Amino acid sequence: MAMTIRRKAFWPITAFVALFLTPPAWAEGADGTVQPSGRWTQAEVGSAPTPPMGWNSWNAFGVAITEDKVLGSAQAIQDSGLAALGYRYINIDDGWWHYRRQADERMQVRANLFPSANVGGTEATSLRPFTNRLHAMGFKAGIYTDIGRNACSQAWAPDNPNLPEGTQPEREVGLYGHVRQDIRLYFGAWNFDYIKVDSCGIAHYGADRTGVANGTYRQFKPLIHETNLGQTDVAKVRQLYSEVRDALRRERPRGDFVLSLCNWGSANVRAWGQDVGTTWRTSNDIDPSWGRLLHNFDSVATRELYAGPGHWNDPDMLEVGNGLFDAAHLIEARAQMSLWAIAAAPLIIGTDLTRAPHAILDVLGAPEVIAVDQDPAGNQGVIAYADSEREIIVKALGQRGAKAVVLFNRLAEPTDITLTAAHLKLAGPIALRDLWQRRDIGTFSGRKAFHLGAHEALMLRATGAPLLAQGSYLSEMTGRIHVAADGIRVPEPDPIIYRMVDPYVGDTSSGGHRPAYAGWGGPRADATPYDQGLSVAGEGFRYGLGVLANSRLEVKADGKFRHFTARVGVDDSTRSRNSAVRFEIYGDGRLLAASQWLSFGDPAKEIAADTAEVRVVELIVQAAKPADSPIVASWGNARFN
Ligand code: GLA
Repeated sequence: MAMTIRRKAFWPITAFVALFLTPPAWAEGADGTVQPSGRWTQAEVGSAPTPPMGWNSWNAFGVAITEDKVLGSAQAIQDSGLAALGYRYINIDDGWWHYRRQADERMQVRANLFPSANVGGTEATSLRPFTNRLHAMGFKAGIYTDIGRNACSQAWAPDNPNLPEGTQPEREVGLYGHVRQDIRLYFGAWNFDYIKVDSCGIAHYGADRTGVANGTYRQFKPLIHETNLGQTDVAKVRQLYSEVRDALRRERPRGDFVLSLCNWGSANVRAWGQDVGTTWRTSNDIDPSWGRLLHNFDSVATRELYAGPGHWNDPDMLEVGNGLFDAAHLIEARAQMSLWAIAAAPLIIGTDLTRAPHAILDVLGAPEVIAVDQDPAGNQGVIAYADSEREIIVKALGQRGAKAVVLFNRLAEPTDITLTAAHLKLAGPIALRDLWQRRDIGTFSGRKAFHLGAHEALMLRATGAPLLAQGSYLSEMTGRIHVAADGIRVPEPDPIIYRMVDPYVGDTSSGGHRPAYAGWGGPRADATPYDQGLSVAGEGFRYGLGVLANSRLEVKADGKFRHFTARVGVDDSTRSRNSAVRFEIYGDGRLLAASQWLSFGDPAKEIAADTAEVRVVELIVQAAKPADSPIVASWGNARFN
């Protein structure tokens, strides 16, 4: 039954609504009712309306970092024209620090590596001349630290000559216990603009570590166990990073900073990173190999509802120019750029640009690929097709009727991929442009077949008539959606996925045979939280939002959308069948529509609301009573029109 509640006529129908809202008797007193906020509560942490772009020393040089090398790459970014394309942050990583001076606990710089830091006087060393130099070149400057007492290099490269030196307390260069002081130094006195905060200090200094056992470093009982969420103190990790955010806001009240969280996807950061950081890593470190590329991309590809203007999933830095992504492997190099751009990931170059061949500069500087990454709508690409070897990822661009799409061959042998109008949510003749070749490649209707070489990613821009003549699916506006509550009661680890080659999957006109695995449970676009197709009592929905009960999504409507409709119900993939759910739509805090209580097996119900002039639409799914395991609920065909 369709039920629309008009905002302006809200009061008189309250009683009518209440009839339907009264939960079944057994649900009375059930706790955990989700309340609307009535406003857009997405945090603004620093400033990055589009994904940050720049360069970082780590993938290129490790801890063998010098001022010359950094400035050399900065100069190359300027001379090659990459700066003009948007690469603006020049970030130093691990290796810059010398020791924490004990008299006043002020950090000292390794001046043999950064000669300009040798300022003398009471400061002794300072990175201000270095940031002055970068700022004078028109760049922004980034620094690196750790949330614990000690750094990653101290744990993982104990023999490196560039490690911090001195007594045990002098070697404690991380933020722990020094957040206010260090942030004031880095952003006040030294004038940095960007900070990457690693987390080895709270993960790798347990009593059993060699450096700890032999007294080089103080023990820090690990708060993070990378592969064991049960052993991880999620709340404490979040709190420590929040202190850094708060210190940055105090130091830079105008919000002119970037806070890059680097705890490798651990501690459930996928859920809280958006409240605490500007960007947050979703996986362990990338390296220039194909397996790592796939893993790091997979770690970000299912988190499309968590990114948006000002807050970005971070699958780690670019390896373009290195190892398997060097000039002898331009197909792989382009694949990383394509995937990172479609995922709206930060584009942080990680190669020595003073030696990069033209072909690599061309990959990093592909203007139409960069434009997809930097599209102002800030949507992350949504998986439209996935099987073990092929993927189609579609990113709705700010211009109506325009989509970027990556057709991706994960395997080391050629394959065929069929792109359809349905993948793109477009209709009629669709014009295609190859963003690597920078040329139009004609139009198609219905479907078009492509042949891809090993490891190839084709990146296209498609323009046509929107499938919804008058509106948009919510899965076409991921950047407008804020996951305010994900409904997850007990966080689960991300699976590490080993995909198989499936010879029986057929062509790619369907949604695909996706790898089936238990997962994390965060809401998804055009899929369930556990990456299945949306389906209610046997009725499948190619498009929509898949959520868990007890979730609340805020949609930044800005008064632009007149009407919301969806077909809703408990998803057939749910593991829990013992509780009913109710779907509620709020507009600026007022209830606009609600479904009946719906149980597993009940047919999908149409739900609709008048959203004209509404600034923030909220989509809430209530559970009638606590469930034995998460209840999967589907907003099938969720759309504005
Ligand atoms: C960690 C981070 C890397 C890099 C190194 C430096 O591994 O994830 O990105 O910063 O530390 O030691």
